[in-house]
Amino acid sequence: MCTTKHARHRSNYQIDAIQECEELILPLAIADALGGEGMADPFEMRCIECARVHDMTRPAYVCSSCGNLLEITMDRAAALERISKINMKARPISVWRYRELIPVGNSSRILSLGEGGTPLVDCRNLAGRLGMKSLRVKFDGMNPTGSFKDRGMTVGITKAKELGMKTVSCASTGNTSASLAAYAGLAGLKCVVLIPQGKVALGKLAQAMMHGATVVTIKGNFDQALDMVMKSSGRLDMYVLNSVNPFRIEGQKTASFEICDQMGGRSPDVLYIPVGNGGNSAAYWKGFAEYESLGLTKGLPVLRGIQAEGAAPIARMFETGASELSPVMKPDTVATAIRIGNPANWKKTVKAVKESKGSVSTVSDKEILGAQKDLARLEGIFAEPAGAAALAGLVKDLKAGAIDRNSNVVCVSTGHGLKDPDVALSQSARPRTIEASLDALQKLLEGT
Ligand code: F0G
Repeated sequence: MCTTKHARHRSNYQIDAIQECEELILPLAIADALGGEGMADPFEMRCIECARVHDMTRPAYVCSSCGNLLEITMDRAAALERISKINMKARPISVWRYRELIPVGNSSRILSLGEGGTPLVDCRNLAGRLGMKSLRVKFDGMNPTGSFKDRGMTVGITKAKELGMKTVSCASTGNTSASLAAYAGLAGLKCVVLIPQGKVALGKLAQAMMHGATVVTIKGNFDQALDMVMKSSGRLDMYVLNSVNPFRIEGQKTASFEICDQMGGRSPDVLYIPVGNGGNSAAYWKGFAEYESLGLTKGLPVLRGIQAEGAAPIARMFETGASELSPVMKPDTVATAIRIGNPANWKKTVKAVKESKGSVSTVSDKEILGAQKDLARLEGIFAEPAGAAALAGLVKDLKAGAIDRNSNVVCVSTGHGLKDPDVALSQSARPRTIEASLDALQKLLEGT
């Protein structure tokens, strides 16, 4: 529990000032124990297309030569040397358990809210219902702000401070803005978020506002908001923390490391994951591939990316065999988190999914809402609609006979259901009102 003393110190939120908060001692202990002196840096920032190396000490998102996105590459030998000196698995499971595999400076102050270490739920009821041997759900809605974004944001904000930035920004369908706002507050940075008007779930909006971000709604969709954020970053000196930022991906890849550790050093056979802007699916693949190359897990999963029917430009590519993305101009789905028509990371995700020998396909809103209810009623997992899309994809594949029921399957549930109370309420029966008497209660129960 955080002490009152801690609460009084909230003006300085850096990790050394929050030691009294027991949940946060562990990441701090990890950072301190590392030292890191004398170790070769295994990381470089490169263009995903032309492989040109870019300076990691400056803010950058796209290649200055060809305009494609940047990624962080890891030299295997140098990474092996780094991890040979420590026992990662002796540390508590969390994003920063994997500190040596995350590209932030050795002396950087890690800004953490205790993210990661989310449950890999063994879903026996669902497995039984679906006739599967086993089914696990990685419930990343259990992160500090209720979505997987926190994994990327702890790394991205740590990097923003390292770069000396004063303002951070993002476009968002909701979760990124909630997460960024929280971490920007922690870091003492100004935060500007652009969201599509009227299409952001209430909980997410409340979070961004409560954490003190400047929240701007634009008369347009997410894709237009992201375009504005990217174009304004230089002029307004704002560090962009959408998933086009390669450091975000480095935090998010830790979910795969965790899954492998939680499965006793092996990877799932198949991983179902929702796809919006395409950052998280690319991050998961990067995580599995790096962990496997370092000998820390056995095998690699097939990735099954899932998009909502009304916002499925990447699924269409797989369906038609097209090599270029055709944006969906008016994306629409009940899963507002993945209501994206022009995914910025499409190249990264298509490459990742193909390397895994997987594919991207669609589910309907009805299938998403059905899966959301099943997760809530059978497993106690309250996911927001996008966080149920992966399960909806699995159910659809099972019905089509497209997956072996004995496979070791993990579905990623990306965000918490409390984020979107409107959708949850609209799906559920209203509470019944009775007189305050036992007779009235008995009558009601006998009638149900
Ligand atoms: N699930 C949830 C709950 C999300 O919030 C998002 C993306 C995704 C899945 C898709 O991940 O974009 O990496 O493919 N939300 C972003 C946002 C776009 O602004 O919060 P992706």
